[in-house]
Amino acid sequence: MTAETTIPDAAVAAVRDAEWVTVFTGAGMSAESGISTFRDADTGLWERFDPADLATPQAWARDPALVWGWYQWRARLVRDAEPNAGHHALADLASDRTVGVVTQNVDDLHERAGSHVVSHLHGSLFAPRCSNCGTPYHGVDADPDRAVEELRVEPPACPVCLSPVRPGVVWFGEALPEREWTRAESAVAGSDLMIVVGTSGIVYPAAALPERAVGRGVPVIEVNPEPSALSSTVTHRIAAPAAVGLPALLRAVRGA
Ligand code: OAD
Repeated sequence: MTAETTIPDAAVAAVRDAEWVTVFTGAGMSAESGISTFRDADTGLWERFDPADLATPQAWARDPALVWGWYQWRARLVRDAEPNAGHHALADLASDRTVGVVTQNVDDLHERAGSHVVSHLHGSLFAPRCSNCGTPYHGVDADPDRAVEELRVEPPACPVCLSPVRPGVVWFGEALPEREWTRAESAVAGSDLMIVVGTSGIVYPAAALPERAVGRGVPVIEVNPEPSALSSTVTHRIAAPAAVGLPALLRAVRGA
């Protein structure tokens, strides 16, 4: 454990006792990989961009090239990033218990660290699909060297029905994908510990999952350097960033 990071003994015991852990993550999980969160002051994406222009069905209808270009830009930032020590600690945690990740993140950093991702609640930057017939799109970026600042990019045409291909993410005003939600619910219903990392806990229905775990009497550990909307609900708090708090938790669990 680092001198600055306090890991409550009861949290360590909860991890040691757990056989099936559901990890619920938000944007703070990837912050130390260089991926911006949404709501952190100064650096959050929603501080710099208006979600109404970029992350709604109305924005897509108005200006598909702006929306497609913005998500291409975000996908490029993720492709250039690496999983951080927090992602790796979660993958390590699965060496001696079942660990399933339910993430609100649209990046693939958990997968690249080796974790089992049960559910991408808000979709994925890497699963575009036809906006009309829903056919998954597997085409590659036509111009991988395009400057990241260039935000307007015409979306490709669906090979089946020629409609524009849309980002495979959930926008404001859209329902969560049913399969992803059902898988998340099952994970929460079956696990005996939840670890919540890097989420403000204000976007529903995702934020209801930790509340549900607490309602079942399952301990919930939060890892977040700042208090969140879930902090008063969770059982244990580790006030540290993910890339510090999660490795420290793992070391404490292993008695290292
Ligand atoms: P937010 O940007 O709302 O919250 C980020 C959280 O991460 C905050 O609680 C920060 O304190 C915390 N945080 C920052 N740095 C951290 C670090 N290094 N380690 C751990 N925690 C850190 O992001 P989300 O809660 O993920 O939805 O946002 C939820 C949803 O709102 C997103 O999935 C997205 C957004 O609009 C859609 O796009 C549908």
